[in-house]
Amino acid sequence: MMFVDSEYKDFRAGVRVFCEAEVAPQAAEADRTQEFKPGYVEKLAQQGYLSIQLPRKYGGREWNTVQYSIIVEELSRVCGATGLMIAAHNSLGVGPICYFGNDEQRERFLLPVTKDGVLIAFGLSEPGAGSDAGGTRSYADRKDDYYLLNGTKSWITSGKSCKFAIGTARTDKSGGVKGISSFVLEKGMEGFTVGKKENKLGCRGSDTAYLHFDDVKVPFANRIGEEGAGFKQFMITLDGGRISIGAMALGLAVGAFEIAAKHAATRKQFGRPIGYFQGIAWKLADMATRIEAARGLIYGASLLKDKKVPFSTESAMAKLFASEVCNFCTFEAVGILGAEGYSEKSPVERMYRDMKLTEIGEGTSEIQRLVIGRAIIKQMMQE
Ligand code: CAA
Repeated sequence: MMFVDSEYKDFRAGVRVFCEAEVAPQAAEADRTQEFKPGYVEKLAQQGYLSIQLPRKYGGREWNTVQYSIIVEELSRVCGATGLMIAAHNSLGVGPICYFGNDEQRERFLLPVTKDGVLIAFGLSEPGAGSDAGGTRSYADRKDDYYLLNGTKSWITSGKSCKFAIGTARTDKSGGVKGISSFVLEKGMEGFTVGKKENKLGCRGSDTAYLHFDDVKVPFANRIGEEGAGFKQFMITLDGGRISIGAMALGLAVGAFEIAAKHAATRKQFGRPIGYFQGIAWKLADMATRIEAARGLIYGASLLKDKKVPFSTESAMAKLFASEVCNFCTFEAVGILGAEGYSEKSPVERMYRDMKLTEIGEGTSEIQRLVIGRAIIKQMMQE
């Protein structure tokens, strides 16, 4: 995949300049205070990072999925929380309205993204519906010209800071996953409240909160696509989202690797840089090799998505592998830096904590294995 990288050398360099100047300097403080500073999201919006794949007619950049992956990788290389916020907003917030919404909805909900830098959240998970995404309990009761929506969404990235949230709810209690529909919920709708903000292990700058819906009147015009189409829409959306969480994992792995490699080349013990010792050099070799393999899977899935051919299995593989590489690299980086890596003196301590999200969010590693395993069996049954 080196050829893909060389094609986007200048693009990556431009993203990196911005990340070094604006993203890296705020990362430790955002982690400590558990929020981004006022004006930070607006800066990201000005760079086009809230509208990465949005069509130009809505003010977006129309970057392809390789470029999207590069942006998330570079953001996460210096700040995992920013990488997560940008990945969740673009793939899961903007994505479904772009793919499944109508023109009126795109104008109403996506123009504010480019004009005012608003964030859109994704409301799939519920207290009783995590890996079992079809276990949605929220219920949208159809009335004359609106739905009356009741329910709770949990673990919502940017739940506090978003302006809109796309959420699933049952419109047919007996319909299984085919009884689930999706809606755009707007902050300010009566009965829509933000609940407790979570105090997380990592990605602390990015807020995660509960969303509560108590007799919220949702107009028909806010339903995305047909009644009953919500589950499939969200599964397709997650296929794309998993590439971006893979890219986030890659970025964290690269960030940790670079710090560890530099440390190994400069830190002297027993009269020589510790990187001369085979125990450290082999760790660096394994980190570098796995990073390249993860990048290959992420670019591969990105290219398939842009060619509009099926990529569910490849995106699950990319996320699964990249998150495990991220676990390996951040863990080893902490070890190579020793006591310094174990303290807030080094960003690798934060990266190690941020890493865990990549093995949980947008489907746990077990769910990725389930998706890949089911695809293998399905193919075997067809042969
Ligand atoms: N594309 C299109 N259709 C799909 C699909 C996909 N990727 N996956 C499933 N479907 C369709 C199936 O074809 C089926 O339709 P038909 O009956 O018409 O054939 C229907 O959906 C039901 O499929 P399954 O029987 O496979 O559904 P399931 O209940 O067994 O669940 C699952 C499948 C893969 C386990 C799914 O529940 C899942 O992905 N779970 C994980 C949830 C998840 O990733 N949550 C992330 C939350 S968001 C988040 O984390 C954001 C953040 O900010 C960090």
